[in-house]
Amino acid sequence: MMTYSIETNVNGRPRAAEVTARDTLLDVLRDHWDVFEVKNGCEQGDCGVCTVILSGKAVNACLTLAVQANGKDVVTAKGIGSPKEPHLLQTKFVEHGAIQCGFCTPGMLTSAKVLLDQNPKANRQEIREAIAGNLCRCTGYKKIVDAIEAAAAKPES
Ligand code: FES
Ligand code: FES
Repeated sequence: MMTYSIETNVNGRPRAAEVTARDTLLDVLRDHWDVFEVKNGCEQGDCGVCTVILSGKAVNACLTLAVQANGKDVVTAKGIGSPKEPHLLQTKFVEHGAIQCGFCTPGMLTSAKVLLDQNPKANRQEIREAIAGNLCRCTGYKKIVDAIEAAAAKPES
């Protein structure tokens, strides 16, 4: 099968892979580069657990072909902040108890990060719309929206 060479930057680290035209960004992140914080749920764009930031936009990695990421920057939940220097969103998720099993959390954080980058003072309705494609089976969403709203009320400089 014909393959293509791709190069990306994942959380600031250069990555390269040989991929087929059918490989998704999700396949390559998890199977080639061990980027396991990007979760695999439905593989058809329904659950949002695979959401990453691709050149500033929130995308479902399962619906993005790997070749579409060639030459672009990919940011995952791990790239937003670290345990030593968490992003305000990550701090607020912990403070508000917005993480239960945690399976949806990486996708929630990347969707929320893009929202606040574009709209730092997003209101509750805008937050709900931004995470409408991210399903959570545990929290009932209130705590997640509370956490994002708290981060929006006090955006990072
Ligand atoms: S795994 Fe991508 S949207 Fe569900
Ligand atoms: S915290 Fe479990 S799916 Fe959201």
